[in-house]
Amino acid sequence: LRQTTPIRYDETRQCWDIFGYQEIMQILKAPECFSSVVPGKFENSLSLPESILELDPPQHTKLRKIAGKAFAPAALSQLEAKIASIANELIDRVVQRGEMDFVADFANPLPVIVISEMLGVEQNDRALFKHWSDTMVKSPADASPESLERLHTEQLQARRELEAYFQKVIELRRSDPQEDLISQIVHAEVDGETLTFNQIVEFCILLLVAGNETTTNLFGNFVRLLTERSELQPAVSGNPERLKTMIEETLRFYSPVQALLRYTKQDIDLQGCHLKKDDVLVLWLTSANRDPAVFDRPDELDIDRSPNPHVAFGFGIHFCLGAMLSRMEAQIALDIVMRRLCNIRLAPGAALTPIPSTFFFGLQALPI
Ligand code: HEM
Repeated sequence: LRQTTPIRYDETRQCWDIFGYQEIMQILKAPECFSSVVPGKFENSLSLPESILELDPPQHTKLRKIAGKAFAPAALSQLEAKIASIANELIDRVVQRGEMDFVADFANPLPVIVISEMLGVEQNDRALFKHWSDTMVKSPADASPESLERLHTEQLQARRELEAYFQKVIELRRSDPQEDLISQIVHAEVDGETLTFNQIVEFCILLLVAGNETTTNLFGNFVRLLTERSELQPAVSGNPERLKTMIEETLRFYSPVQALLRYTKQDIDLQGCHLKKDDVLVLWLTSANRDPAVFDRPDELDIDRSPNPHVAFGFGIHFCLGAMLSRMEAQIALDIVMRRLCNIRLAPGAALTPIPSTFFFGLQALPI
């Protein structure tokens, strides 16, 4: 499809699929033509209009400036030792067993502990957090209207609980700031303005959801590759530079976020196709990341690939705010995994089941 129709309209789904790297870049570089705001947002939509992901400039620009402060390198470097100690603790729990489910025992808990730590969430509330975050990104069991309805109800419930939780924490931090991300977001100012209450709640929820599932899948996809290509293990173990390039190659090869959505702001011609106002565009990042026009031998995993201009974190004004955090998390945590677990193999008879999602790519379990 990428070769023959890098842009095509799907009558059944009523959206444009964009497969080519150049075409996707062209769209991501032009937010004035391709919006992130869902046209005519449905009433029961899960997200509020204040979500940074679904805003266009100038609203997006202001929110991004404030939110960006919390993700500055100086703020993140304080987390390094914490990430290492969480990773070591999780490995300590399983190392004697000689076997583990890498997803349940490591990839799932680590990002939620890190983001809870950043947000200043109490240790006792972390299991609840993981539950809310999982529910928010869950896909329906099947395509039946009953399943969709059930999931929608479950997600609205999780969302309400999260809102109520954050409401309490935000009020507390307003009057009594602590050394955590929520306090920074509550008090951050741009041009003398702070964020509204809804924007803060929405941002906290987004961090929880966007930061968890994606980083979990990056970790799982990385270790999956180590089992599929076990000869790479000695080459990467104890070699931080190689580990870095392999993490980037994992992001390209098994992209945790498979696709993004955009909406046309007006009628526009794109590479010979006529797009109408409010048309839906599905930008297949996963396809762009294997485009032979950009990547040599795109279907081969090359752990030394450099440069590696993948778009796993998106591009342009919405480029992932957590990219630096998740890269840092991956470099620290996966280094510990590689040093402490040697000869990693898939457990005999283990079947690899993908998570049931169109937009996220990862495994439900990884018994090793
Ligand atoms: C945006 C991927 C981790 C927070 C994005 C976008 C992508 C992405 C593709 C662009 C969305 C768009 O253009 O519509 C990933 C991947 C991750 C990851 C692959 C891990 C491997 C994180 C983490 C956090 C985070 C750890 C925070 C804790 C955000 C936020 C945005 C975003 C706030 C919205 C930025 C904006 O709209 O300006 N991410 N993400 N992400 N990500 Fe991530």
